[in-house]
Amino acid sequence: MQLYLDSSNPQEILTAREWGIIDGVTTNPSLIAKAGTEMEAALRAVLEVSPGPVFCQAIGWRDVEPLKAQARWLSEFSSRIIVKIPMSVAGITAVVQLKRENPEIKIAVTAVSTVAQAIIVAKAGADVVALFNGPLDLEQDEPVRVVASVRAIYDRSGSATKILSAGRFPRSFGEYAADGSDIITIRMEFMTLLFEHSFTDKRLQGFLNDWQKVHGNKTWPAVVAPAANQKKP
Ligand code: E4P
Repeated sequence: MQLYLDSSNPQEILTAREWGIIDGVTTNPSLIAKAGTEMEAALRAVLEVSPGPVFCQAIGWRDVEPLKAQARWLSEFSSRIIVKIPMSVAGITAVVQLKRENPEIKIAVTAVSTVAQAIIVAKAGADVVALFNGPLDLEQDEPVRVVASVRAIYDRSGSATKILSAGRFPRSFGEYAADGSDIITIRMEFMTLLFEHSFTDKRLQGFLNDWQKVHGNKTWPAVVAPAANQKKP
């Protein structure tokens, strides 16, 4: 399963990249607007630091032609861009026409909230369905379990559409992964939570206390970096 950072902030992307755990970056109009620069500059900055593909969304959802024009522009801007097209009648029509025109264009359909919508996305031939399970969880204050059903339907019909989940808290993140997401994208504020658990902290402190009772502040090996001329045994 791939892990993406949902961000338009180059510093944040570099931090997660240094942790060595992200495969690419997702953005959306809210995040690009937050960057405070023109689309081109914001996109260039994200592409420069992302370790892999970058998802970027077309603006609007009601008219086919503007969505198609933006999708063409985005896919020409960089071969690493996966164009996000919103879930709507115009959006799905645009996906079908864009794929007919250029089967190589990479398209995700975004803001997908139900299994029914995910079925339409696969029928349209999109490369990725972006399930808004995490945002919906928060909005409705109850778990939204769509991944397992979409996974079963896609597998049964031999669909090549990948499932992207929008991650939030660690428990639902684990469920989205276990239920069959191909990609989970998560904002930095939630990604940091994935590292944390009170029991982990408690045990780490317990290990350190037990060690220090016997050895004080000594660590092993005492000299961490061997001298440059020191030969290995
Ligand atoms: C995913 O690709 C989206 O960018 C993101 O998760 C959207 O959800 P949100 O705006 O509710 O965070």
